[in-house]
Amino acid sequence: NNGNCGACTVLLNGAPVDSCLVLAAEVEGARITTVEGLADRIELHPVQQCFLEDAALQCGVCTPGFLVAAKALLDRIPQPPEEQIRFHLAGNICRCTGYDKIVRAVQHAAERMAQGAKS
Ligand code: FES
Repeated sequence: NNGNCGACTVLLNGAPVDSCLVLAAEVEGARITTVEGLADRIELHPVQQCFLEDAALQCGVCTPGFLVAAKALLDRIPQPPEEQIRFHLAGNICRCTGYDKIVRAVQHAAERMAQGAKS
């Protein structure tokens, strides 16, 4: 409830926000995407799949926020350099992992999404 950790990140009209800082009345008519909305009915979103494959989580408390924030980044900048990934995810705190696996998972998702776009 103070925007410290980013675990509650959702997309508000495509932009990441801490949902704990947004009043419901402020988003009337807006498009909201939660982590549950990232996957389609058949497949996980590439950021979700790469977090799993790259073991980019431990307890998982922070994971929904990281996934949503990473998706927002890759929607805007499909091939971000490492520094940009770290900068973009700076509002998301993980108390378990180092951040290296998270960053690698986002890079992996970017590669996978680029391959998917070519095929
Ligand atoms: Fe536990 Fe990030 S995996 S807080």
